[in-house]
Amino acid sequence: MKRAIIKSTARYLPANRVTNEDLTHMMDTTDEWIRQRTGIEARYWVPDGDDVGTSDLALEASRVALGRAGWAPSDPDLIVMATMTSDTYIPGAGAHLQDKLGGGYKPALDIRQQCTGFLHGLEVCDAYIRSGLVRKVLLVGADYQSRFMEKTTANRDTAVIFADGAGAVCIAAEETDAAVGILASVFHADGKHANALQVGIPARKSGYAMDPDMLANREYFPYMDGRTVFKMAVTRLPEVAGEVLAKAGLELADIDMVVPHQANLRINEAFRDRLKLPEEKIYNNIQEYGNTTSATIPIAMDELMEKKMLKPGDNVLFIGLGAGLTWGGVIYRLP
Ligand code: UT7
Repeated sequence: MKRAIIKSTARYLPANRVTNEDLTHMMDTTDEWIRQRTGIEARYWVPDGDDVGTSDLALEASRVALGRAGWAPSDPDLIVMATMTSDTYIPGAGAHLQDKLGGGYKPALDIRQQCTGFLHGLEVCDAYIRSGLVRKVLLVGADYQSRFMEKTTANRDTAVIFADGAGAVCIAAEETDAAVGILASVFHADGKHANALQVGIPARKSGYAMDPDMLANREYFPYMDGRTVFKMAVTRLPEVAGEVLAKAGLELADIDMVVPHQANLRINEAFRDRLKLPEEKIYNNIQEYGNTTSATIPIAMDELMEKKMLKPGDNVLFIGLGAGLTWGGVIYRLP
C-alpha cells in the first residue's frame, strides 16, 4: 500500500526579531498584556524595505527541505503551497514559488485555508500519493503578515499576534504494509463565523473593490473578533481530536506528541487541560514565533525533528482552527 512519508522538514524565519518591548514603541500595549493573553514573547517580521514576498520565505524553507531530502528542485512531481498572504492576490504564491525554485513546469497548487492550510496540505498530499498520481511532493506553509497589519493601537489585537515565517516538508510515496505515514485526517468548516476573522478587500460581493468608504474603513487590514475565535477553538479542537483519533483507530494515550496550531498559548493550554494531556506531550513555540498562520505546524515539526524529540513509531496529532472558521486534525506515524 502507498503511504505518505515525510522525508525532511525545514523552517525559515526572517531576520528581524521583534520583542513585545519593541511593540510598546509602536502602539499602546505592554509586554505583560501580550504574555498573559497570548503567551507570545517575540516574533519575526520581514525587515522594512526588504523587497520580498511570501514565496521568497517559502523558497528559503523549500531549498533546505529539498537539500535534506536529497532532492533536486526538479524532483517533486507537485508543489503544494499553503498561504493566506500570497505575493499577489492573483496568482497565488504557488506559481511564484515554482518559478523561483527553477525545477521545471511542475504543477503548483495553492491552498487558501488560513490557519488550517498546512493541515489541509497534508491531507491533499496523502490523497495524491495514495491515488498514485504523484510520488514526491513539496508541501510548504508560509505567511508574510507584517505588511498586512496596521501596527497601531487601533489594530493591536492582531498586530501583537501575527508574524512572518515559512515551513516546508518533502513528502514521498512509500510502498509498505506497515501502518505508517499519514494515518487519518478530519476537517470541518463553519462559514457562519466567516466575519470573525477576515480581510474584506480586494474581494467584493458587490460594488467596486476600491470603494473610498471601504478604504477609509481600512478593510484591507485583518479584522478579528478574538473572543469568538477563542471560544470556538477551545470547543472545536478537543472535538476534532476525538474524531480523528476514532478514524485512526487510536486512543489519546497512543499519541506521543500533539502539535497544535500556534494561535494563542492559552488556547493550547485549555486544549491540554480538557484532554488531561501531560505537559511533555504538547509542543508550543508561539512564545518565540507568534502566530505564523500556515507556517506554525511545519515550523514546529522542524523543531521537533531538530531536537530529536520524535522517534520511529511515534504518533503525532496535528490540530488547528482559524479563519473560515475551519478546523481539523491529522495523525501521522513516523516510519
Ligand atoms: O490563528 C488565527 C486564529 N486567531 C485566534 O485564535 C485568536 C483567538 N483569540 C485570542 O487570541 C484573544 O481573543 C486575543 C489575544 C486576540 C485577545 O485576548 P482577549 O483576552 O480575548 O482580550 P479582549 O479582546 O477581550 O480585550 C481585552 C482588553 C480590551 O480592553 P478593554 O475593552 O477591556 O478596556 C482590549 O482593548 O484588552 C485590550 N487589548 C489590548 N491591550 C493591550 C486588546 N489588544 C491589546 C493589546 N495590548 N495588544
